[in-house]
Amino acid sequence: MALLLRTGLVLLLSIGTAFAQPPAGSFNDAQCVACHGETSPEVHGYRLSKHGVLAQISTPGRAPGCVDCHTPQAHHPADTDAMSQTCGHCHSPRYVETLRANGVRMQEVGNMKQREVLQLLTRARSQFPAAALQDMEKHYQHLQQHLRNLRLGVAHQSPDYQWWHGHPALDGDLLRIKGAYDELMRRHAADPKH
Ligand code: HEC
Ligand code: HEC
Ligand code: HEC
Repeated sequence: MALLLRTGLVLLLSIGTAFAQPPAGSFNDAQCVACHGETSPEVHGYRLSKHGVLAQISTPGRAPGCVDCHTPQAHHPADTDAMSQTCGHCHSPRYVETLRANGVRMQEVGNMKQREVLQLLTRARSQFPAAALQDMEKHYQHLQQHLRNLRLGVAHQSPDYQWWHGHPALDGDLLRIKGAYDELMRRHAADPKH
């Protein structure tokens, strides 16, 4: 039994390690989706995009799948010039350029929100012990996830990930972090030992 348990543990640990490293090799769309997971923001966001919907309901090849944009060797470094070419198979260069410029702006606004939060968090870290900052740190972790959602929403042209799981979620994080900081300051003012 002890041996069995240990084998299970080693197996779990090695799966854990495998997950940290992207695998080498060629894959098809179904394999990408199966390994990354249907609920991962990359797959979920893509599926909610027009491309993702068309890939499910339209003639094969009408809209791009994972492999069309990432190549079957998905874990090579990204080549952004190749991406414009990829989009150019189906869209005009001007449309693609406009989308790209909009995407850069949208991410820049997201980065501004992160910088504002990080400034506040840095100030709080210099004023309060770590134990008092658990709420703020937790909100900051969520903010980083939502910033990734936004990046994926832009990359995968997924309005839901830009406008629902992206910016509004970031705004929520920003408000919650400010609220948590105000609360700390209030408690500190009422009782300076805190
Ligand atoms: C057997 C599992 C597995 C398969 C199959 C797989 N991936 Fe991954 N992928 C990973 C892991 C693990 C990572 C690294 C951790 C992470 O970023 O989630 C990763 C990372 C990535 C990244 C980020 C790349 C980087 O260097 O940061 C992209 C993009 C990606 N995968 C796309 C794909 C696409 C597209 C396919 C199909 C062609 C695919 N993956 C197939 C497991 C897999
Ligand atoms: C229309 C083209 C397109 C399709 C289709 C597409 N992707 Fe992407 N994907 C991109 C681009 C562009 C990026 C952004 C790359 C960057 O910024 O480095 C990206 C980013 C990613 C990332 C994030 C890498 C990171 O830096 O965190 C993952 C993971 C990923 N895609 C997986 C997938 C999977 C899985 C599928 C299929 C379900 C898929 N993509 C379909 C174009 C596409
Ligand atoms: C295999 C062909 C194909 C490729 C490659 C492709 N698309 Fe598309 N895309 C389509 C089709 C088809 C539609 C649906 C057009 C419509 O509304 O009738 C679409 C829709 C879109 C939409 C939604 C437009 C809307 O009105 O909602 C965006 C944004 C988009 N594509 C961006 C891109 C970008 C950026 C790339 C490259 C990363 C890309 N596409 C690559 C075929 C493609």
